[in-house]
Amino acid sequence: MSDIEAIRAQLLGDIEAAADAGAVEALRVAALGKAGSITGLLKTLGGMSPEERQVQGPAIHGLRESVTAALAARKDVLDAAALDVRLAAEAIDMTLPADAAPRGSVHPVSQVMDELAEIFADMGFAVATGPEIEDDWRNFTALNIPETHPARAMHDTFYFPDANAEGQKMLLRTHTSPVQIRTMMSQEPPIRIIAPGRVYRSDSDATHTPMFHQVEGLVIDRGIHMGHLKWTLETFLKAYFERDDIVLRLRPSYFPFTEPSAEVDVGYKQEKGRRIVGGNGDDEGHAWMELLGSGMVNRRVIANCGLDPDEWQGFAFGVGVDRLAMLKYGMDDLRAFFDGDLRWLSHYGFGALSVPTLSGGISA
Ligand code: DAH
Repeated sequence: MSDIEAIRAQLLGDIEAAADAGAVEALRVAALGKAGSITGLLKTLGGMSPEERQVQGPAIHGLRESVTAALAARKDVLDAAALDVRLAAEAIDMTLPADAAPRGSVHPVSQVMDELAEIFADMGFAVATGPEIEDDWRNFTALNIPETHPARAMHDTFYFPDANAEGQKMLLRTHTSPVQIRTMMSQEPPIRIIAPGRVYRSDSDATHTPMFHQVEGLVIDRGIHMGHLKWTLETFLKAYFERDDIVLRLRPSYFPFTEPSAEVDVGYKQEKGRRIVGGNGDDEGHAWMELLGSGMVNRRVIANCGLDPDEWQGFAFGVGVDRLAMLKYGMDDLRAFFDGDLRWLSHYGFGALSVPTLSGGISA
C-alpha cells in the first residue's frame, strides 16, 4: 500500500470513530489545517518533477477530497443524532391539562382589542382588517391626501424601495384609515365596521414607538349625521372605561378624509399621578384630554370608492389603542408595551382564559 493509501485508511478510520463535533473538527485541523498532514503533502508537489507530479498530484488531491467528504458526512451524522437527543429532551406532553399551571398572559393591547370588538359587536359593528403593507393610493390618495398634501409629511412614512405591479409606491400603513377604503370598495353599504391593527411611523420617544396600534371606525348608511357619531363614541367610551360619567367635547378640527372633522376630548381628573377619565372637563379639578379624531366621511372619499355621496353618508373615527390601554390600566411608558419583558407582562397582562364580555364585565 502506498503512503497515500495508508494515510487515507488511517484518516477515514479516525473520522468514522469521531464521537462528537469537537473530535471531527480536531481531525479536520490535523489533516487539512495550515500545518495539517494533507496540507503538508500538497506542499511537496511544488518540489517534484513534472512526471512525478502527474502521478502524485491527482492522488493527493483525491485524498483531500475523500477526507473532506468523510468529515462532512460524519458531521451530518453527529448533528442529526444531537438533534434527536434534543427533540427527545424537549418533547411536550400535549395531554397535560391546560389548567395545570397557566403561564403566559394576554398582552394589554390584545386585551383592549378584544374589549373593543366586544363593545362594538354589541352595537352591530363587524371587525375588518387590512394589510400592514399598503399602497400609496389607499393609505393617502383615496383618503383625499394627494401627493403634495402636508399631511403626508406629518405621517413620517416608511416607504419600500420598489413600486408594486401597478406602479404604486408601497409603504407600511401609517394609520388604519386605508381599511375604510378597502371596506367601501369590497362591501355594499350599509357598513358598520371597526378595524383594529398595527400602524407604523418613523418616530420614537417615550410616547411614540415606530409601530403602534390604532382602531378605525366606519359607518356608511343613508341619513347618517354627527349625532350618530357622538352617540356611538359616548356609548363606546362608557362601556370601555366602565363608568357612566364620561363627558365628551367635540372640537372642530381638520382631517382630509372627513368634513366636517372633530377632535374628541374627554373630561378627566388627575389622581395620584394618574389620569382618571370621567367627569366634565370644565368642572373644578377636571381638565380635557384629546382622545380621538373623527368626522363625517368626506364626499370625495365616498366617491373615490365608487359610491354615490348623495346617497351614502357616514362617519369615521380613529383612536390609538395603546393610549386607550395606558389610560384604562394606568401604564405610563409606551415603550414597555413592546419590550417583551415577562415581568411587565405578568404585572399588566390578563388571564388567557378570561374573555371580555359585556355581561360578565368588560375587563374582568
Ligand atoms: N387617521 C388619523 C390618524 O392616524 C386618525 C383619524 C382621524 C381617523 C379622523 C379617522 C378620522 O377615521 O375620522 O391620525
